[in-house]
Amino acid sequence: MKKIKSQFPIFKNQKKLVYLDNAATTQICSDSLSATNEYYSNYRANVHRGAYEMAEKATTAYENARAEMAKFINAENDEIIFTSGTTHGLNLLAQSLSPRLTHRDNIVLTRLEHHSNLVPWQEMSKRYGFEIRFIELTADFQIDVASAKKLIDKNTKIVSFALVSNVLGTIAPAAELIRLAEMAHATTIVDAAQAAAHLPIDVKKLKVDFLVLSGHKMYGPSGIGILYGKKKLLEESLEPFFYGGEMVSEVTYDKAAWNDVPNRFEAGTPNIAGAIGLGAAAKFLMNLGWTNIIKQENELIEYTLNKLTPLVSIFGPVQNRTGVFSFSIPKIHPHDIGEILNRDQVAIRVGFHCAEPLHRLYQLPGSARISLGVYNTKSDIDLAIAAVKKTLKIFSVYGLRHIYSHSLGNEN
Ligand SMILES: Cc1ncc(COP(=O)(O)O)c(C=O)c1O
Repeated sequence: MKKIKSQFPIFKNQKKLVYLDNAATTQICSDSLSATNEYYSNYRANVHRGAYEMAEKATTAYENARAEMAKFINAENDEIIFTSGTTHGLNLLAQSLSPRLTHRDNIVLTRLEHHSNLVPWQEMSKRYGFEIRFIELTADFQIDVASAKKLIDKNTKIVSFALVSNVLGTIAPAAELIRLAEMAHATTIVDAAQAAAHLPIDVKKLKVDFLVLSGHKMYGPSGIGILYGKKKLLEESLEPFFYGGEMVSEVTYDKAAWNDVPNRFEAGTPNIAGAIGLGAAAKFLMNLGWTNIIKQENELIEYTLNKLTPLVSIFGPVQNRTGVFSFSIPKIHPHDIGEILNRDQVAIRVGFHCAEPLHRLYQLPGSARISLGVYNTKSDIDLAIAAVKKTLKIFSVYGLRHIYSHSLGNEN
């Protein structure tokens, strides 16, 4: 684990980079990059179609990547659909599952969802009339199971939630939420975008119906992800949402019949290089081992909390969390924090992080966010902390506070 940074080419090329924006996107590992390059350089061909050796090699690599992803989440190979990422997966689910809902039904989300697990449902709710309910958060930023118990009822048809919050770092009480949903015979969806690189995922143990994740948040390429679905549900409950080549078994001028699962959900030429790179990233994580990853990340989480807490207000739990730290400093706009940290090559994210309602809930005009990856070290945190201290100094020493305070809205 000590030499892990050397397995990420970016850090050879950007020696001073302190990369702490891993919740937005992680850096790509050498294994994933080489697998992608190898496909482009040596055997680029379309999959499932060619009658020549190179096309067969591409198809085998693509299907091996599917198998790798199945292993990564303990699913069966034909339960893995390649998508362009979490947003694609959630839109597919919203588009496909919503038409059977009516104004008598409700779906249950939580207050901390990313826009991609909110906006698709809002749009479908306008069309089909169902109600959207939100599980509340507790005072210590955890998902409130008591609130879930009140909200999930016999008219709940879908329960969809982020396994890890991209703002708070909160880990959802997944088993409990899925149990409540099961009792109501509701379909369950887990958004594992922020969990995939930090926690082991076992869909069989979770008993979840559908799960989505993105490659670029787990040290793989961007533009690729997966949608997992229980085979029976993929076959019987989910309608394809994209139509075209490869997803069909027979086509006439009047109609078409669908191919088997999972091909029926992969219309058109897929992101072949991306899938191969994603498979390699999953293998990289599995080889590192979850015990090692969690031990190292937990140590760094504790270290970061100890250093950051005296300086800023952190929005997120102290325990049961991953290394995502959204924070604010009274009277300093998050964009100014980001800008000053950037001067020292400390890369963080600022703004709403695609979770505007959650920020509004806490009356925040946005936040600054430090998020950890497997290659981060205590020295990265020390440099970030030094830059945060510099920010505090600039604003108090040079009296710039009044210039920015007008843009802070009701935070004043
Ligand atoms: C919790 C969560 N869900 C969904 C997404 C969307 O992922 P993508 O942009 O890869 O589709 C993100 C991205 O930040 C996220 O953090």
